[in-house]
Amino acid sequence: MNSQKIISTQKKSPKSLQKTLGIGLTIGMTLLWMFALAGAVYVSQNKLNELFDSALAETAQRIMPLAVVEIINREDLTQAQQVMAFKAHNEPLVYIVRNNLGQILLQSHNADPAIFNQTLLKGFNSSATHRFYGVSAVQDTLHIEVAEPLTQRRDAIIEMAVTLLWPLVFLIPFCFIGSWAFVHYSLRHVLAYRDEIESRGSSDLSLIKTESLPAEIFTISESVNRLLDRLRRALESERSFTANSAHELRTPIATALAQIQRLQQEVSAGPTQDRMIKLESTIRGLSNLSEKLMQLAKAEGGGLLSNEPCDLISLLKLIINDAQRSHPEKVIILALPQNKEYRSAIDPDAFAILIRNLLDNAIKHGAIQNRAIQNRVIKHTEKDQPIEISFSANGLLTIVNDASVIPAEILTQLRQRFVRSNVSAQGMGLGLAIADAIVSGTGATMTFNSPAAGRVDGFEVSVDFSTIN
Ligand SMILES: Nc1ncnc2c1ncn2[C@@H]1O[C@H](COP(=O)(O)OP(=O)(O)OP(=O)(O)O)[C@@H](O)[C@H]1O
Ligand SMILES: [Mg+2]
Repeated sequence: MNSQKIISTQKKSPKSLQKTLGIGLTIGMTLLWMFALAGAVYVSQNKLNELFDSALAETAQRIMPLAVVEIINREDLTQAQQVMAFKAHNEPLVYIVRNNLGQILLQSHNADPAIFNQTLLKGFNSSATHRFYGVSAVQDTLHIEVAEPLTQRRDAIIEMAVTLLWPLVFLIPFCFIGSWAFVHYSLRHVLAYRDEIESRGSSDLSLIKTESLPAEIFTISESVNRLLDRLRRALESERSFTANSAHELRTPIATALAQIQRLQQEVSAGPTQDRMIKLESTIRGLSNLSEKLMQLAKAEGGGLLSNEPCDLISLLKLIINDAQRSHPEKVIILALPQNKEYRSAIDPDAFAILIRNLLDNAIKHGAIQNRAIQNRVIKHTEKDQPIEISFSANGLLTIVNDASVIPAEILTQLRQRFVRSNVSAQGMGLGLAIADAIVSGTGATMTFNSPAAGRVDGFEVSVDFSTIN
C-alpha cells in the first residue's frame, strides 16, 4: 500500500514554483482588483443616487412655481396642455402636473402619463422603470411629479464598472509575466544550483557550490554536500579496497601459476597431470577475475574523461591488431569512415578497457569459438562468421558476431555484475558490467541487439561516443 503510494507520487511531474507563484499572484491581484471594483461601484452607486435624487427634487421644485403661474393664468383651468419643445431633443426628465382630482393640467412634451403613479404621492418613490419625486402646491390643489428613467443611473454605473474593468485585460498578462520574470530572477541561484546538479555525470560526487543560495535552500544544499562527501568517501574506500586486493592477489596468483606449470613438467601424463591442468585453468580464472576487478574499480572511479581529446580510430586499430595477434584463428573485419579520425574526450585507458571487454566477448562467446571449444580443436568451417566491427564518421561503434539468439529478458540484464547467458565459455559475468560503468561514466550510450540487425541470429553491441561532451 505504502510502496504504491510512493510510486504514484513519484510519477507525478513536480510543479514549477515559478509557474505556481506567477498564477497565484495573478489570481490574487485579479481578486483584489475585483473586490476594489465592487467596493467602488457600491460607494459610487450610493453617491450617484443621492446626486440624481437631489437633481430630481430640485427640478420638481423649480418647475412647480412656473407651472402654477401658467395654470392660474389660463381661461379654462381644467384644460390639459402639453409644453411644446423648442426643438427636438432627448428628454431624460419628464413631468406631469395634475389637480387634486388627478386630472392632467400640464405635461412635458415627452411625458407618457402611463408611466406615472396613479395616486398623487409626495416625496421620492420608484417603479420598476422610473424614479419619481412628487410635490404639491396651492394648498394641495396642484401636484407635480417628475420622473427619471432608472436606466440612466444603471448606465452610469455600468459605464464606470467597465472603465475600471478594462485595465485588467492588460494587468493580468503583465502581472503574470512580471511575477514570472521576478521569481525567475530571484531564483537564479537556485536554478544555477539545479543546472549544476543536472549537468553532472553519475560518477561526479564532488561538492556543489552553495554561495549566493537563498537561506531557504542553503541548509538543504549543505546537507546534500555532506551526503555527497560521505558517499564519495564510502565509494572511494570500497573501490580502493577492491583495487588493492586485486593488486595484492596478482603476485601470489602468478607465483602459484608458475609453480603449477613447473610441476606439470615434472609429472608424467596421467590422472595427476589432468588434475594439474584443471588446477591451472582454475588459477587462470582467478587471475582473470582479479584483472576484471581492477578494471571494474577503475571504471567505477573517476578519471574516465581526459582534457586532451584523443583519436579513437587509431586506438581501435591498435586494440584490434593486438586481439588479432592473440587470436589468429578469428576473422575480424573492420570498417572505418573516410575521415579516419574521430576525436573524443574519453580517457584512452578507459576506451581500451571498454573495447577489450567487448572484443573479448565477441571472440569468446561467438558461435565459432563455442563449437571449437566443444570439439577441442580450433578450425574454420564454411559456417564460420567473421566478427564485424564498424566505426561510423559520427562516432558509432558496432561489433557484430555470430551467436545464438539471447532472449530479450536476459539481454536487458547483461549489464549487471555476474549475469551470464553463455556458461560454456569461461568468465565471471563482469565484462559488460565494466563496459556499462565506462559508458555511463563518460556519457556515452551502449545498446545490445540479439539477433543482430538484419540477421536471424548473432549478437550486436553498439556504443555511441557522440554523446560524450
Ligand atoms: N559478443 C557476444 N556474443 C554473444 N553473447 C555475448 C556477447 N557478449 C556478451 N554475451 C553474453 O553476455 C554475458 C555477459 O557478458 P560479460 O562480458 O559480462 O561476462 P562474461 O564474458 O561471461 O565474463 P567475463 O567478461 O567476466 O570474463 C555472457 O556470458 C554472454 O552470454
Ligand atoms: Mg566478457
